[in-house]
Amino acid sequence: PFIQPPQVEWASGALAKGPLLRKSTRIRDLTGVFADESARQRLAGEHVVYDVEILATSPAEGELYTGVTHLYPGRVGGEYFMTRGHFHARREQGEVYFGLRGSGLLLLQNEQGQARLESVCAGSIHIIPGFTAHRLINTSSEVLSALAVWPGVAGHDYAALAKGFTLRVFEENQQIQVREVQND
Ligand code: 6PG
Ligand code: NI
Repeated sequence: PFIQPPQVEWASGALAKGPLLRKSTRIRDLTGVFADESARQRLAGEHVVYDVEILATSPAEGELYTGVTHLYPGRVGGEYFMTRGHFHARREQGEVYFGLRGSGLLLLQNEQGQARLESVCAGSIHIIPGFTAHRLINTSSEVLSALAVWPGVAGHDYAALAKGFTLRVFEENQQIQVREVQND
């Protein structure tokens, strides 16, 4: 007699039982996203960098979306695999990320270009305020999966970050190296 809600398998981040929207983002989709564009072009274009699964729920004002991002391990010219990253089109709309598995970083950047990095691990909670761009970075050799909840009206603005974030994260000598970049 009870409604069976959608489920997330905590260990893997897999969503089940809901009507789901799925999107894969591949190396060939990420033109200009990594610092070393020629290194990106040398990689197999069909290689998947991240998969997103979203519960197909209402996008109306006041409603919330729930989704999982699975960001695979890898590097482009030493720079760790990462999501494209975005501001919400409705800039004031925030979001919450929950780390599920793997380890990495959540890069947050305000409209003034000030950036910070939060460690993501199983159980971490990330409050992304409004007016804050966000990008996941996988610094490990495992899949990084994170659950997110955000307003259905938030939308995405990728163009505002076409020049990139002000921090980039690389592996050098088996160490995580954060570099500040000048985008002007
Ligand atoms: C959102 C969420 C999240 C995000 C994915 C992929 O607002 O929809 O932040 O679902 O879209 O992690 O990241 P990109 O949208 O930056 O490719
Ligand atoms: Ni978002």
